[in-house]
Amino acid sequence: MKAEPSNQYIYIVQSSKEQSVCKIGKTNDLERRLSDYNNQTGKSKDNVYNYLFTCEVADMTAVEKDIKAEFPKFREQKSREIYFFNNDLFADYVNFIKSHKLFVKEIFIKTEEPKVEKVIKVVKKTTPSLKERGITAKDVMDEAKKAKDDEFYTRYEDIEKEVSMYDKEIWKNKVVFCNCDDAVDDTDDRNSSSFALFFMHNFNKLGLKKLICTHYGGGLDIFNQGVQGYVAYISVTTDGEHIHKEFPKNYNGSFDHPISLKILNEEADIVCTNPPFSRAADYWKIVIRSRKKFLIISNHTNVKNDAYIPYFIKKQVWAGYNEVLWYNNSKKQLAKASGYWFTNFPVQNRPKYKNLKIVPLKEIPEKYKKYDDSKTLLVDNCYIPSNVKKPFAVSVYPIVSGILEKGYKIVQEKQYRPFINGKEIFARVLIQKI
Ligand SMILES: C[S@@+](CC[C@H](N)C(=O)[O-])C[C@H]1O[C@@H](n2cnc3c(N)ncnc32)[C@H](O)[C@@H]1O
Repeated sequence: MKAEPSNQYIYIVQSSKEQSVCKIGKTNDLERRLSDYNNQTGKSKDNVYNYLFTCEVADMTAVEKDIKAEFPKFREQKSREIYFFNNDLFADYVNFIKSHKLFVKEIFIKTEEPKVEKVIKVVKKTTPSLKERGITAKDVMDEAKKAKDDEFYTRYEDIEKEVSMYDKEIWKNKVVFCNCDDAVDDTDDRNSSSFALFFMHNFNKLGLKKLICTHYGGGLDIFNQGVQGYVAYISVTTDGEHIHKEFPKNYNGSFDHPISLKILNEEADIVCTNPPFSRAADYWKIVIRSRKKFLIISNHTNVKNDAYIPYFIKKQVWAGYNEVLWYNNSKKQLAKASGYWFTNFPVQNRPKYKNLKIVPLKEIPEKYKKYDDSKTLLVDNCYIPSNVKKPFAVSVYPIVSGILEKGYKIVQEKQYRPFINGKEIFARVLIQKI
C-alpha cells in the first residue's frame, strides 16, 4: 500500500523579542512547530513566537535549500535558519517562496497579537492617556513597531571603518552635523551616540571646524537624555572639549524641526548619522535638497525603492564602501540588520567592484538568468551580461557594488516588479548598458 504523502510546509516565524530577524524553516506540522518554539521560551509574556507567513509546498527540503541559496547574505548563522528582517526583506522572502515552482498554497494561521501593555512601554511616563491623545491601542502598536525599526544604534567601529576610506581632506575646516538623536553626554560616554563620540575623538585629526549634534526627545531615550530636544555645539582645542548645549523652547530635536533645518541649511557642511528607518524617505529628501555633503547609514534595500531610485538615477547619491550589519539595540546588546553607507562624496577604487561578474550572456549560469512574463531578462548573483543592449533587471547588490560606475544606468524611476507565470517575484532595479 502506498503511504499518503505527509504535508510539507515552509514557515517564517519571529520572536516578539527579536524583531530584527526571523527564522525561515520547514515542518510537517505547523501547529506543533509553533508550540515547540513557545514552549522553549516558557511562553513568557514578553517573548512570544508568531508566524509571519506559512505555506504548503510540494518539497519542503528543496524549497528550504533554494531559500538558503537565494538569500545567503541575509542569514545570520550557517547552522540555523535565521534571516535578517525588515518589511522589504520580508516581502522578498515571501515573493521568492510564492513564486517557487514547488509552492502549493498559502496557509493562514491566526497569530497572537502582542500584548498592548508591553508595547505601551515606549510611551513616555509624562504622556497623557490614549483617550486624551485621541488615539487607539492599535495606533500605539503601529508606532511601537516603527520605533522598533529605529532601534539600531551605530557602533563606533563601523563609523571608524567607513570614514577611514575617504580622503581626510574632505573634513578639513568643515562643520559636521549629526542630526538624528546623536546625544552628547559630557560625563558618561555610554550616553553619547557613537557619531558624537567619533567626531569628538577625531576632531583634530580630521581638522574639523565644529561639530553640531542634536538629541531627539521623542524616541526611546536610549542615551538617557530626557524628552527635551537639544542642540550640542562642540569644538575641541588644546584645552580639551568644549560642549555647549542649547535647549530651545518647544524644540524636540527632530531633523525636520525648523531649528534643525536652519542648522542644516545655514551652518552644516557635512551631515553624518544613521537616520530612523521609519523616516528615512523624509530624511533623504531633506538632506539631498539641502545640497550638503553627507555620509549616512540606511537600509540597503533603499536602492530598489521608489522613494530613492530617482536620487541614484540623478547621481545625487551612491553607495559608500561598507555594509553595516551589526548595531546595538535599545538594551545595548548586539543586533543584526542590513544597513549600508550612502554618500555623495567621491568613492575611489571601490573594493566591491570585484563582486561584479560582467560576462557575455551565454557565460552566465542558467540558474542565475531567467526571463519574466514580459520577456525581460532577470540576472542574479551579481552577474551582468556584457553583450545585452536591452534593459535587464538586477537585485540591489550590483548597484551597491558599483555597477552604475561601470557603464550601466538605471532606466526606470520605479522598482521593477517581475512576474513569472503570473506570479510576482521579488522586486529589482531595471538597468541598461550605456
Ligand atoms: C537608527 S537610530 C540611530 C541613532 C544614532 N544616530 C546612532 O547612529 O546611533 C535612529 C534614531 O533616530 C531617532 N529619531 C526618530 N525620529 C526622529 C526624528 N524625527 N528626528 C531625529 N531623530 C529621530 C530615534 O529615536 C533613534 O534614536
